[in-house]
Amino acid sequence: MTEQVSPAKGVHGVVGLPGDKSISHRYAMLTAIADGDSEIHNYSTGADCRSTLSCMQSLGVRHTFSEKDGRRVLTVHGQGIHGLTVPAGTLDAGNSGSTIRMLAGILAAQPFTTTLIGDESLVKRPMRRIMTPLAEMGARIEATNGQFPPITIQGSRLHAIDYSLPVASAQVKSCVLLAGLYASGETIVREPITTRDHTEIALRELGADIVLEPRVARVRGGAKLQGKMLVVPGDISSAAFFLVAALITKESDLIITNVGLNPTRTALLDVLKGMGADLRLLHIEQVNGELIGNLQIKSSVIQGGVIEGATTAALIDEIPVLAVLGALSKNGLIVRDAGELRVKETDRIETIAANLRRMGGTLTTTQDTLEIPGQQKLHAAEIQSCGDHRIAMAFSIAALAASGACEIHEAEAASVSYPEFYTTLRNIAR
Ligand code: S3P
Repeated sequence: MTEQVSPAKGVHGVVGLPGDKSISHRYAMLTAIADGDSEIHNYSTGADCRSTLSCMQSLGVRHTFSEKDGRRVLTVHGQGIHGLTVPAGTLDAGNSGSTIRMLAGILAAQPFTTTLIGDESLVKRPMRRIMTPLAEMGARIEATNGQFPPITIQGSRLHAIDYSLPVASAQVKSCVLLAGLYASGETIVREPITTRDHTEIALRELGADIVLEPRVARVRGGAKLQGKMLVVPGDISSAAFFLVAALITKESDLIITNVGLNPTRTALLDVLKGMGADLRLLHIEQVNGELIGNLQIKSSVIQGGVIEGATTAALIDEIPVLAVLGALSKNGLIVRDAGELRVKETDRIETIAANLRRMGGTLTTTQDTLEIPGQQKLHAAEIQSCGDHRIAMAFSIAALAASGACEIHEAEAASVSYPEFYTTLRNIAR
């Protein structure tokens, strides 16, 4: 599907967001292995989170959607920590790295064998990062060429490990913690820099035996989880597209409601403010251990700057749209330490560079950096999302500031995390 996006003077109004993708995955997996039913409000509408639900369904966990007060509610009928059943066939994680990597932690401890498959993008994504710690815990996993999906996991009795993550990855951390729920002893995961801590928060909410210190999580195997009512905050990584839309257009005033504001995810807001964004936090509350708030953003002159080290890791999903912002900023943007971008849904250093160039932009790249000069004039172009949701959305936002209408090819990729993206964009762009 091709979407046409025309230039806009600004974005206006009040926007709600789909539920956070990261939190939705965790709630679906954890409530499935909890005792009793859980009601999950604002579960992500994205295809990735549907993949997680359908994998859990294949493992014998039923779920239903209903409507309460006009809102969609997901009920997961938890089967208990040892209640998963042998699936009839392979489990399909679709496009979702989170599904395959985190679920692998649970499957490594089941008394049966499962094979996880994925789409043409997922089969190119590295799995050794989860295979190594799981093997250390006693799991038996086979992968294509020793590292790519499909992966076949022969469940085993696991034992606890003390694992220091070689790459900063919340997916890997979560995988080991989930396996730790089943392992004998105390599993310890240490991370080099802080990554999103939704798994730790959700485990605590559902009653796991977990102890948290800065960059260290300890979970004891054998505890039961208890289902409960959960509310998923709006996805700040989806909010990023509209925040940048407001900043790069001249007459914008936008309110975004119910944004997840977990401090491990808000580097984006700090970076935008540091670059001169007129961005305000209007309201904040805590639900299920996660912070949620409303944001107001207005058109601003953005200075640009340098993003590197722990900051790059903390906003890795937002780099595609920040690259667009950098090209339209006063002084440009340098992103360092971004090698992980090369192993996302696409090689995002390549797909960012190719699309920016299609719009007449310039930048230089290395294996792990992007250097984007500021004050660029972008023109109408045919954008190739290459099936990557964040590339489709980032360059749809770039189109708002281009000299003419852009065609976004494979725009349906946005549905991986944000099926309502184009409808919302049309509603707010003037
Ligand atoms: C995620 C962690 C990040 C992020 C991804 C979602 C998660 O990946 O890029 O979109 O939900 O834990 P890594 O763990 O590979 O850094």
